[in-house]
Amino acid sequence: MSVPEHGPVRLADYRAPAWRVVAATLEFDLDIQATQVRARLELRRTTADAVPLRLDGIGLQLRAIRLDGRALAPHEYALDEEALQIVDVPATAVLETDVTLDPSANSALSGLYLSGSAEHGFLLTQCEAEGFRRITYYPDRPDVLAPFHVTLRADRARFPVLLANGNPAGAGELADGRHWAAWDDPHPKPSYLFALVAGRLEHIEQPYETADGRAVTLRIFAEADAIDRCGYAMDSLVRAMRWDEREYGRNYDLDVFHIVATHDFNMGAMENKGLNIFNAKYLLADPQRSSDEDYAHVEAIVAHEYFHNWTGNRVTCRDWFQLSLKEGLTVYREQQFSADMNSATLKRIEDVQLLRRAQFAEDAGPLAHPVRPAEYSAIDNFYTATVYDKGAELVRLVAGRLGVAAWRRGMDEYFRRHDGQAATVEQFLAALGESNGIDLSPYLAWYAQAGTPELEARGDYDAAQRRYRLTLRQHTPPTPGQAHKQPLPIPVRLALLGADGGNLPLRLSADAAPASECVIELSGAEQQFDFVDVAAPRAASLLRGFSAPVRLQTDLDAADLAFLLRHESDGFNRWEAAQQLARRAIRGLLAGADAVPELAIWCDTLTWLFGADIDPALLAELLTPPDYNELAAQCEPLDPAALHAARETLEQTLAQRLGEALAARHTLLLRSESGGLDGAARGRRRLLNRCLRLWLRIDAELAPEVAATRYVLAPSMTERLAALAGLLAQDAPQAQKALQDFARRYDADAVTLDKWFALQAAVPRADTVERVAALLRHPRFSLRNPNRVSALLQGFAARNPIAFHRSDGAGYRLIEQALREIDALNPTTAARLATTLKDWRRLEPQRRALLQASLRRLAAADSSHDLGDILRRSLAD
Ligand code: TRP
Ligand code: ZN
Repeated sequence: MSVPEHGPVRLADYRAPAWRVVAATLEFDLDIQATQVRARLELRRTTADAVPLRLDGIGLQLRAIRLDGRALAPHEYALDEEALQIVDVPATAVLETDVTLDPSANSALSGLYLSGSAEHGFLLTQCEAEGFRRITYYPDRPDVLAPFHVTLRADRARFPVLLANGNPAGAGELADGRHWAAWDDPHPKPSYLFALVAGRLEHIEQPYETADGRAVTLRIFAEADAIDRCGYAMDSLVRAMRWDEREYGRNYDLDVFHIVATHDFNMGAMENKGLNIFNAKYLLADPQRSSDEDYAHVEAIVAHEYFHNWTGNRVTCRDWFQLSLKEGLTVYREQQFSADMNSATLKRIEDVQLLRRAQFAEDAGPLAHPVRPAEYSAIDNFYTATVYDKGAELVRLVAGRLGVAAWRRGMDEYFRRHDGQAATVEQFLAALGESNGIDLSPYLAWYAQAGTPELEARGDYDAAQRRYRLTLRQHTPPTPGQAHKQPLPIPVRLALLGADGGNLPLRLSADAAPASECVIELSGAEQQFDFVDVAAPRAASLLRGFSAPVRLQTDLDAADLAFLLRHESDGFNRWEAAQQLARRAIRGLLAGADAVPELAIWCDTLTWLFGADIDPALLAELLTPPDYNELAAQCEPLDPAALHAARETLEQTLAQRLGEALAARHTLLLRSESGGLDGAARGRRRLLNRCLRLWLRIDAELAPEVAATRYVLAPSMTERLAALAGLLAQDAPQAQKALQDFARRYDADAVTLDKWFALQAAVPRADTVERVAALLRHPRFSLRNPNRVSALLQGFAARNPIAFHRSDGAGYRLIEQALREIDALNPTTAARLATTLKDWRRLEPQRRALLQASLRRLAAADSSHDLGDILRRSLAD
């Protein structure tokens, strides 16, 4: 990368832009190798004093430059590798530039690039966060908002479809087989929301009328071989649009809404105004090829990007430090939506699983950062679990503090105040708080402080006084650059369960009305809460629904947890009781205890629940111990093999304890299995697959035969994948044949073939290292494709502790090697893959030295700005 290095960008250094863009007019002459961009920017200075005009621009060939119609001589402007500067510019001016760029050479997938082959592929853009500067010279920062008028010109046969943001504003023929299309986006937007797409694309469409009466045409574009898999995304879009009208009073605001699918994309999807662009893996779905999880992702991500239209686009971010203002809020809205469309309890469990294995792990390592960082050196590296998922938890805290009606009132006020603006987290909290007469500023501390708070709870019952005293104490361990932490406001939703499992009426003072559940908020380091006139509780159920993103430590013993697991009516906390027991069992095993009572209690209680009347999907989750990565983030020193083995012991012991019941339940569930996609069918299938997985552990004869048959006959991809993954994990003789069959069946389908790579990368065997190395040379593998890299390498490094952490360091060297090559092509993808190396410090000494050596070699070599940033922070003291 030829970009000069400079120090970090700091929130404290924010300055309002000196120049605004009043209107942007862009003309593109599109070509795979030489695209020309002509920009006409109406500029206005915001300051009284003259300030030079500085426009961002990287990798552009400047052909012409005119100021107020006059061509500038070379001495009248300054060009370097990342900017164009003109010192003498009147307070209002029109700047025109012509540049040329080569989309086919853009392997970083930022800016204008080619998806697919030069012959058949199509052109598209990705501008968040700083890709627009790779398209034209512009003040490429989110607080410069302008209406855009865009004209696209291209060869009609090669690029029949020409799309950009906003409403269509004309189209027609040109000489030499070329044609044009114009697009007008009246809503002022920052450059990171710019998009264009050009190529041979098919589409499906559907009319939609908004609640406020606007007729909109919805279209989804994809290449011909994928267009018949866009129906579920369209249905999801319609559900999301209706939901946002109903829940937030937000209507869509253009005449068209377009979505485009591509196989070449760095992230999940992008909310470009009126022209969302999706990674095909999160848009395409069909019953034969997509798993239940794929369907859930499509629904959630289509909704997420659509919701950005208000939380992100109409109200955008002042600067990239405020990224969570749009991402945390939009993830929260998407979580609400998914909870409404499906099972709210399951959605909450899944969200917390993700939070713990990704965000808690991030917070516990060298890359820990606040939801609103104070500084960054590479913004692309801050699209993190912390900004997204912890950010969503913070929005949840605030929404919970306000309650349903006040939350809606506050959001209405936020939109009223900041529509068309670039806002900050402070303004968000101010709008929500002031419209409700509540001071929300204490929550700002959550945005500024990194690390996961540890919350300690102790309960004491005074029978004579009928008083239950809950003592809460908080402490946040230090994180890089933040040695000392302050106490945060921590809401704790709780109930007290009586001996019969029912909730006891609760109140904090004699004159309050008793409630079966309440929320208390710890604000200092330690606080006591006295519940008065309460009967003797059997067990306290704390942090119901995961009311705050903390690690809770209670004084409950294993019997109390088993009681909660049997009786708790809050589905989330019931699951949490099983997780707590499993965590303690694993801790006991790792400590080398002879007998681990928690293991027996966990198995016994789950066996009892297995026969009880429980939602099948919840039961499947109850039967699953915490994820390896979640557990690893709490072990120091970490021996990956030992932790993996302990987790395996849990699964094995549970499988043995359940015994015959597994095969019986599997058979029973199979009877009703027909690949249905409704919630009930998906829930049953989740349990079906969980039973198969456990059954395979205790039966090496019949179970693998059944799995092999199910692999062939499976009416759904979910079942087919589960059968194949189970066979592979058990190293069953039937596994390789099924694997070959999978490759043959799906050879031509990129999204599904990724599953084939991912399945093999996840096989928990030491020699998977060699297998992955061989797959790197597979004709269908390419380091240029982020999805394929993620399937094979991210999957290997992030989800295969046995192979990745092989004690000879071969797994580390494999990733090290691949990183060098990927970095030369796509720094964003390299940087993301490199985050899998961050936790070297917590490893036992031998692996620690090996992984550190890999990191040091990488850091010593030339690398991109993005990768260098991850390596530096990972290695820093
Ligand atoms: N804003 C996108 C979202 O909805 C994230 C995103 C898509 C992105 N593509 C990107 C971020 C490229 C950085 C770089 O979450
Ligand atoms: Zn987003």
